[in-house]
Amino acid sequence: MTDPTYQVTAAELEEQQRYIQQIADLPERPATYCVVTYGCQMNAHDSETIAGMLREMGMKEAASREEADFVLFNTCCVRDNAERRALGNVTWLKEVRKRKPGLMIAVCGCMVQEPGMAEKILKQYRFVDLAFGTANLHRFPELMWKALHADTTVVEIDTRNTLAEDLPVQRMRKDAAYINIMFGCDNYCTYCIVPYVRGRERSRRPEDILRETERLRQDGVKEIMLLGQNVNSYGKGLADGITFAQLLRRLDETGIERIRFMTSHPKDLSDELIKVMGSSRHVLPQFHLPVQAGNDEVLRRMNRRYTREAYLNRVRALREAVPGIGLTTDLIVGFPGETEAQFQDTLSLVEEVGFDSAFTFIYSPRVGTAAAKMPDQVSAEVASDRIQRLIALQDECQQRAMRRFLGTEEQVLVEGFSRRSHSAVSGHGMHGLSVTLPGSERDIGQIVRVRVTGLKNNTLVAERAEA
Ligand code: SAH
Ligand code: SF4
Ligand code: F3S
Repeated sequence: MTDPTYQVTAAELEEQQRYIQQIADLPERPATYCVVTYGCQMNAHDSETIAGMLREMGMKEAASREEADFVLFNTCCVRDNAERRALGNVTWLKEVRKRKPGLMIAVCGCMVQEPGMAEKILKQYRFVDLAFGTANLHRFPELMWKALHADTTVVEIDTRNTLAEDLPVQRMRKDAAYINIMFGCDNYCTYCIVPYVRGRERSRRPEDILRETERLRQDGVKEIMLLGQNVNSYGKGLADGITFAQLLRRLDETGIERIRFMTSHPKDLSDELIKVMGSSRHVLPQFHLPVQAGNDEVLRRMNRRYTREAYLNRVRALREAVPGIGLTTDLIVGFPGETEAQFQDTLSLVEEVGFDSAFTFIYSPRVGTAAAKMPDQVSAEVASDRIQRLIALQDECQQRAMRRFLGTEEQVLVEGFSRRSHSAVSGHGMHGLSVTLPGSERDIGQIVRVRVTGLKNNTLVAERAEA
């Protein structure tokens, strides 16, 4: 349980940099790449890092998956359907390779890190050229070099809790950036596989995070998203005993315009953090706070370590400190043993809180987790009926919650043209909702002040506010 954090050394990173150069100098190597990402923002950011390395190897992003010489799947295994989708696509590539013999196929991410996966890949997916785990990301250049020279699958899966600084990153957006602040999870919610595939909780040093933020700010980034499985337990194990709230305060002083973060665990949501939310200038008034279920007995068996009342108390405190705050959540239905009455408690919690949006999931048993062995697994029919009712209620509550924005002002970071229109743009308001407004090319990447005039599905419709 107490495996130490392994900080990757500068010498190791230099060695990887040499592999990057050697690959770049190879007369025959893939010219184009495509990185396909499944799963959460953690994976999305890992993909940005891999793309950064591939660029430095001299490769260009392919126009499509079919055209790429090198295709990498960055996989997720949090639910069975995520895993099946990834494996299905890898198998599809095997067919593509029949038409395109030189195609190189690689797999990485959480699924690769599952127990027994290395053996499975070597046996059932022998056409894969390279597979590596989440702790081996910084070693990708060396692994790529090996794969370019090997006849059989190169596999490297490490169980160390690695932390690596200063890897190259090819950002998906110019104006917004992800910053990892911590990795892994020690919470062991009984349904969840993440602690097994992402390792123990470890935090980056605050000075490294601040340095990265400053670099991004100078590069024109307006919004940063701090990433971690459990950001509000940031700092555990660090020498200077810094908390997440203190880190936020220091980031607030850097002058970066917008700061967001995810994900937070309700049990670690301190009064100190709520106070910082209420008094900072750049931390956006939004909070993603997964509740999972509304019944105490279910929460206990999920090992969430808070009660319904404790959760509602945190919601009240947040709303008091940050009036109008945008609250979002994750919900699971059909957890083993969940009765209709217990499910009703989830419905009533959703009604009581009025979330701006919620990710809703049917419980999916994951091998190796405690819940997979629990009795009374809920049938697919019951679970599917519950999720439909939950979604219907959430939609209704969401529409109601969104009405509080009518007539108010929002600041929107414009991301691009709105679908189906070239005279409207869209982006995210500071409360986290998507907003469409009249605009043009030159608004993209800018923060625009608007007044909300209407609602359309899950989007706020707005006009530009007068200067
Ligand atoms: N660290 C984050 C995110 C974890 S995964 C957190 O603690 O919230 C994102 C969401 O997937 C979880 O919040 C949970 O709602 C859902 N999830 C995780 N494991 C699941 C499983 N086995 N079945 C269904 N949903 C699951
Ligand atoms: Fe999974 Fe729970 Fe950790 Fe989130 S806090 S990653 S749900 S174990
Ligand atoms: Fe999936 Fe891994 Fe994220 S399992 S949800 S990609 S941490």
